[in-house]
Amino acid sequence: MATGKLVVLMMIMVALIVEGSRAITLCDMNDDGLEACKPSVTQPNPVDPSPECCEALKGANLTCLCGYKNSLLLPSIGIDPALALALPPKCKLEMPPDC
Ligand SMILES: *[C@@H]1O[C@H](CO)[C@@H](O)[C@H](O)[C@H]1NC(C)=O
Repeated sequence: MATGKLVVLMMIMVALIVEGSRAITLCDMNDDGLEACKPSVTQPNPVDPSPECCEALKGANLTCLCGYKNSLLLPSIGIDPALALALPPKCKLEMPPDC
């Protein structure tokens, strides 16, 4: 019987939907901040960060952001890690020295 498989599949889908709609927080940046920065950290045509993005970045934990530079998490949410790490200097923010 395929019913068992179907139930599992539905449970996975529900889990994904719940996961997807949950507000993401990345290194003390909330959903709105990430959204504001998104055009600046996505290929192929990154733009200069908006004031909203820089504001959000000011409250972000940049040490934590450094930890994501080789992570697959950023690409999986559409963020280019190289662009993400280049962002704070564009907002005149210092990256941690050991980044
Ligand atoms: C920033 O993130 C780092 C690494 O995750 C952590 O050790 C540190 O406590 C955080 N700093 C603040 C201010 O939350």
